[in-house]
Amino acid sequence: MNNRPIGIFDSGVGGLSVLEELQKLLPVETFIFVADQEHVPYGGKTKEEIEILTDKILSFFVSKNVKAVVIACNTATVYAIDYLRQKYKIPIIGTVPVIKTIASISKTKKTAVFSTPATAKSDYLSSLIKKFADGVKVFKVGGTGLEELIEEGKLEDLKTDKVLRESLEPLLKKNVDAIALGCTHYPFLRAKIQKIVGPNVAVVDSGGAVGRRTKTILENNGILASKKNKDMFFTTGNKEKFRKVSEKLLQKKLPTVFKIRL
Ligand code: DGL
Repeated sequence: MNNRPIGIFDSGVGGLSVLEELQKLLPVETFIFVADQEHVPYGGKTKEEIEILTDKILSFFVSKNVKAVVIACNTATVYAIDYLRQKYKIPIIGTVPVIKTIASISKTKKTAVFSTPATAKSDYLSSLIKKFADGVKVFKVGGTGLEELIEEGKLEDLKTDKVLRESLEPLLKKNVDAIALGCTHYPFLRAKIQKIVGPNVAVVDSGGAVGRRTKTILENNGILASKKNKDMFFTTGNKEKFRKVSEKLLQKKLPTVFKIRL
């Protein structure tokens, strides 16, 4: 047993979609959430910049004595997880699109990953597809600017609808029947995405898979908690804005939000 907290981070509020799943699956664990909103989106940055930024977040977590870290961001995972795992000896769990799942549930053998453009063009994603989607077509679709709109809390905005429709429409003629959400911001748009692609297309995010993987790793290392303490929220951006948007996305009140400089 180990009651130290688990660190979880994203470039912004998207990681809250993963946190929700972790809280459901691991109700006795304590989480420290960091949103690096000063630097969102990570997608426009180089691999080296993402390594430097995420390294600072990991050092912050180490100063908080975490027992494990969840990278609740696909972009940070595909560009920096190897680097972070080499540098830090605690378990680090990443978030990537659920390629294996969509490949196995697809009947048409035509699927898609809907992610940020940065994740769509990463070698890491290409190698996941090669490894887990043998014989299945996986279209890569990038949703330009969507995470910025979600960061602003603009879920109901016409611009959000327009970007979603423009990104997903090309898929509609391709007989795709399963889509993996490859950005942790996108589960907050699930209803809209489902409406565009129709009820016969499975839309699967990574939150559940990350939660199950985290649980297995804690079990295997003998570090599950026996008592929960209060979860804590930090942002490198504006704490009032983080609170406002997060409460809108999660539809519940947050405890105190702290501002950090990394
Ligand atoms: N939520 C992040 C992801 O899953 C957004 C990436 C970004 O900041 O560009 O990829």
